[in-house]
Amino acid sequence: MLDNISGLRRTHLCGEITRELLDQEVVLMGWVQHRRDHGGLVFLDMRDRAGMVQTVFNPEEDEETHRRSHGVRSEYVLALRGRVRLRPPDMVNPRLPTGDVEVLIRELRVLNTAKTPPFVVEDEAQVGEAVRLRYRYLDLRRPRIQALFMLRDKVARLTRGYFADRGFVDVETPALTKSTPEGARDFLVPARLSPGMFYALPQSPQLFKQLLMVAGFDRYIQIVKCFRDEDLRADRQPEFTQVDLEMSFCSQEEVMELLEGYVALLFREILGTELTIPLPVLTYDEAMLRYGTDRPDLRYDLHIEDVSAILSSSGARIFSEPLGQGGCVRVLKAPGAGRKLSRKNLDDLVELAISAGAKGLAWIRVTAEGWQGPVAKFISAAERDGLASALDAREGDILFFAADRKDLAAPVLGRVRQQLASLMGLDGSKEWRLLWVTDFPLFEFSQEEKRLVAIHHPFTAPREEDLDLLETAPLAAKSVAYDLVLNGNEIGGGSLRIHRRDVQERVFAALGIGRGEAQEKFGFLLEALNFGCPPHGGCAFGLDRLVALLAGQDSIREVIAFPKTQKGGCPLTDAPGPVSAAQLAELSLKGPAPRPAAGDASAPPSGEAPGPPGRPAGEEAAVSGGTPDARGA
Ligand code: AMO
Ligand code: AMP
Repeated sequence: MLDNISGLRRTHLCGEITRELLDQEVVLMGWVQHRRDHGGLVFLDMRDRAGMVQTVFNPEEDEETHRRSHGVRSEYVLALRGRVRLRPPDMVNPRLPTGDVEVLIRELRVLNTAKTPPFVVEDEAQVGEAVRLRYRYLDLRRPRIQALFMLRDKVARLTRGYFADRGFVDVETPALTKSTPEGARDFLVPARLSPGMFYALPQSPQLFKQLLMVAGFDRYIQIVKCFRDEDLRADRQPEFTQVDLEMSFCSQEEVMELLEGYVALLFREILGTELTIPLPVLTYDEAMLRYGTDRPDLRYDLHIEDVSAILSSSGARIFSEPLGQGGCVRVLKAPGAGRKLSRKNLDDLVELAISAGAKGLAWIRVTAEGWQGPVAKFISAAERDGLASALDAREGDILFFAADRKDLAAPVLGRVRQQLASLMGLDGSKEWRLLWVTDFPLFEFSQEEKRLVAIHHPFTAPREEDLDLLETAPLAAKSVAYDLVLNGNEIGGGSLRIHRRDVQERVFAALGIGRGEAQEKFGFLLEALNFGCPPHGGCAFGLDRLVALLAGQDSIREVIAFPKTQKGGCPLTDAPGPVSAAQLAELSLKGPAPRPAAGDASAPPSGEAPGPPGRPAGEEAAVSGGTPDARGA
């Protein structure tokens, strides 16, 4: 029989019970972590958000209460009234903040029972992610996981405080809107009242925050959900949270200074680390040349050199061919790798380069006996001397050569660099290396779409001095954009925006967006630009990424309360799921042809049988949906 809490008011959280409360009567409410019977005494470890405390049941204190404590199991929800006392010296637990006290219980109320959970609710539990996410509410009970959300909450509060103190106004923007291109696919929502029409969920509030600048809000901030239907990875979710901000009448330097102050605050308050600001800045071109990526991890000192000039008259085809076609030869030097990398490692790196689009990856070991490797024989003595001094190559080093188009050589060596760091154990350091990457090109050529696309988004301002390139050499035009990179992760990005209608139209034209299409998709923006739009700029941070990094987590799923799996499914709710034919009809949509009912395979967790869930592949079953409601609506 269950009890209720009437007449009983909680006085403390379990984790708050310390020596200061000796001899006081306290009322606790929480979960049973663990029960131990010791002869006449029963011990219950009680847990809540604040921590754990030991409680004791002694028949001499209250016989009925002691008797009832035998029926209690792990994860039962209890209300307990008792007196705080010191533990005997030999029972003190120095690892627990409450470890030198216990509560002698006089009254026990069982507020709820619990089935045996599929895993023990404790930090050390070894549980696969599928089970963790299916029973996320139990997973979230674990102290280590709860701590991640306390940290996330602290970041959010610091964020709101920092920007509010500087005059930023929190304004909400719509979630049912028109598509804003941020480079991903949209999630679409059918509009029942406009048959055949769709809303898009925002990939970001980009255009609305610009309109708020037109509206004279001057400074805007929002912690906001964004939605992108893209291939998921450890650092990507289909819905994620941005710290989104925008300001008027600012220069790039002002935005960067403001954001540096923000990041420095987070590092100080969360990590107790004082950042050195201003942060280092690399231009996009420098980053690509030296690190082969626009988000270099600077924790390791591996960099790339262009050696085209040294090999310009090479007789070897692997060098002369790409050089003759306007390509380049670049070298990544791995100091001391000779002793660390096996032949298999080298073969794998060559495979990696080829899978990244390279024709090959030549490597040379610098040894006491000379230069060794598949291409060593193609390098003349003079070239070798030139390379050795340009690269400061020493015995024990390995040199990796990519001879290719410039736009391929850079990312290929970037991938090799990253893999090398992992093979050589250079990427696990606890250092924090932040930098800005600036001066991005405005456009890049998409091989897939065979047209120019915006590197950031189409509302990014070109550099003033590059305006004329929009028509003549658009790929040479640079933008006023800046990304913030932390240990190889892009944690934020922003730009000054186009605030003149004529410039916006020219950028649309360069992107191959004709007047008609521009009008149809972005007519509201173009119109707003007619009505006194101030110069403005801003940025958005990926809050999930930022929190995951600050908390030392490899995946952003760890810091999202109810994340999606790699396939975009939610093992807890079984979303996405099928809908009924009637719902589809109401939306003027036709679903896929009905299939035989999937039966119980896709039924939601009934909660009946505890123990490991028998539904490891359940997510696939659920997402393959589209079946008119197999669960019967
Ligand atoms: P951007 O597209 O660079 O810029 O996004 C800003 C930041 O959001 C994070 N992010 C993601 N995090 C988790 N899952 C995802 N799928 C995901 N996609 C992006 C990244 C990224 O740096 N409107 C512009 C900002 C601006 O110009 O002001 C924008 O959205 O950390
Ligand atoms: P091959 O002459 O194709 O047998 O290549 C000889 C070596 O050069 C192999 O180790 C290849 O991986 C490497 N290689 C081939 N093409 C390139 C290239 N474009 N850049 C760098 N290395 C290459």
